[in-house]
Amino acid sequence: MSAFQFILQYIRQHRFRYIAGILTLFFVDFFNIYIPQLTGSITDGLTANSIGMPQIRFYLLLIFLLGLFLAIGRFLWRFFLFGASRTIERQLRDDMFAHLEKMGVEYYNEHKTGDLMTRFTSDLNMIRMAIGPAVISVFDASVMTAMVVAQMIFYVNLKLTLLTLIPMLTICVGEIYYGMIMKPKYRARQEAVSKLTDYVQESFSGVRVIKAFVQERAQMYGFLRANRRTMEKNLDVVRMQAIVMPLLDVIIGLGSLITLIYGGWLAITGQITLGRFVAFNQYINMLVWPMLACGDAINMFSQGSASIRRIQEIFEEEPEIRDAADVIPTPHLTGEIAFSHLTFTHRGHIQPTLEDICLKVPAGATLAVIGRTGNGKSTLVNLLLHLYQAEPGMILLDGRDINAIPLKDLRENIAYVPQDNFLFSDTLRANIAFGTHGQDMDAIVRAAKAACIHDNILAFPDGYDTVVGERGVTLSGGQKQRSSIARALMKDAPILILDDALSAVDTDTEEQILGNLRKLRSGKTTILIAHRISTIQHADIILVLEGARAAEIGNHETLMAAGGIYKSMFEKQQLEAAIGEQRAALAAGD
Ligand SMILES: Nc1ncnc2c1ncn2[C@@H]1O[C@H](COP(=O)(O)OP(=O)(O)OP(=O)(O)O)[C@@H](O)[C@H]1O
Ligand SMILES: [Mg+2]
Repeated sequence: MSAFQFILQYIRQHRFRYIAGILTLFFVDFFNIYIPQLTGSITDGLTANSIGMPQIRFYLLLIFLLGLFLAIGRFLWRFFLFGASRTIERQLRDDMFAHLEKMGVEYYNEHKTGDLMTRFTSDLNMIRMAIGPAVISVFDASVMTAMVVAQMIFYVNLKLTLLTLIPMLTICVGEIYYGMIMKPKYRARQEAVSKLTDYVQESFSGVRVIKAFVQERAQMYGFLRANRRTMEKNLDVVRMQAIVMPLLDVIIGLGSLITLIYGGWLAITGQITLGRFVAFNQYINMLVWPMLACGDAINMFSQGSASIRRIQEIFEEEPEIRDAADVIPTPHLTGEIAFSHLTFTHRGHIQPTLEDICLKVPAGATLAVIGRTGNGKSTLVNLLLHLYQAEPGMILLDGRDINAIPLKDLRENIAYVPQDNFLFSDTLRANIAFGTHGQDMDAIVRAAKAACIHDNILAFPDGYDTVVGERGVTLSGGQKQRSSIARALMKDAPILILDDALSAVDTDTEEQILGNLRKLRSGKTTILIAHRISTIQHADIILVLEGARAAEIGNHETLMAAGGIYKSMFEKQQLEAAIGEQRAALAAGD
């Protein structure tokens, strides 16, 4: 679909506003033309001494009334046309957001936030300019031109008009050419702005790392480079404008010169009256604006179409993960999970991240997943959330293939504590209640108590109404983790996933949370990912991942008896704990 067809879909929805606006514009221009004629008549009347005071008064009143009418008309076309373009801008933004919400997590790995934000802001702005002000300019300019030219020809002189039109038409043709040259420059400028936004966004969200590594200066240089590039792209645009604008003035001057010489001669020799000569001069001035507006409009169109293309790129990308045509509504899951020869390779990887995992988790059981970092634990639960695409038959919930379960049903049945504990810039209350309807305070407190965060929250100045900063900066790592657990518990879903969710809490608190979980989650499926054996040793099933494969499956006792990886991990961690205790005792004894 071309950029024009794309935007036409939106314009069509507001065709009545466009039509009403353009009609009003037409009337305004039409009456505007009569003012020079009136002033011309007054001049002629005055020179010939043929009009008296009453007639002058009448003309002045007429000019005043026309002016009033024009003012109302100008308000109306602005109201219709600017209104329509603002509405379309809003619709486009809504549609973009809705579309982006559907995109999978991979999409966000591949697209930078700053770039997407630029499309939301400055690209949409460019589009609005192209479908509002530019449309107005084009209609206004062509109507004005046609009418002014008609007046010039019929009211003044054909030859004079044709002569003055030559330089004016040069302006128009020149500007179409100019628009063509400018298009790639606008696109380049827009891309530079995107990159700059990206850079700023990353620098701010990564400010802690930058400071800790004393990279402010390097970061600053990076910024200077990106900023300079933006300026250069802007200058590319400005440079062209700087060449073209003075040229315009020369051409306009040429038009006036012709009028003065030839028109003056016509007036002296009596072929046109002085009044018409005066009116003609006003007409010439009236033509300058439409010619300039024409150029502006062409520029806005070419910038707008570059931006439309960037927006289209977003819409053209289909979400790779979405409900298949044959999904079966599954509002309630019991929590039974089965992995059958699950093999999964991340995009761009050659080696599979998970290979041939076979495991059955009965409803209500607790599954623990343990393994070295980067062994695919998070990938496994992301597959379960259908954030990545598993092949048919590899993951079954309640015996049904995951691809046959609508995404909404699936995810509503799973409560998830992600490894990166993202919190929104909102109150703790809203963060914990996120994903549940309404904000039942009792339930929120219960969830917070179970996650051992209640006392912390009460200690905050505003309690549950404490606002968490961007990415939860005012909370400690452990507090963030526990808030995130409370949010998941609040959902009370048949399946709960904790991805390394206890890594930042001390062992006592961990013990307490695990105890609460056992009570709350009895009869419901829970998946625990951890590095510490102490976290998971009471799980019904323990899956030990090693090099993408399920190296060991069992419970604490059987795995200990088997004497494999699990046992050696356990012994190592016991030893570490013992050494730690000894050190602490020694330090206390000093
Ligand atoms: N979106 C992705 N695209 C490509 N590769 C990925 C993606 N996510 C993870 N990987 C890769 O998959 C492998 C497993 O990652 P995963 O996050 O599942 O490990 P993990 O076991 O959860 O590690 P940790 O214990 O550190 O949390 C890693 O090698 C990682 O680089
Ligand atoms: Mg992980």
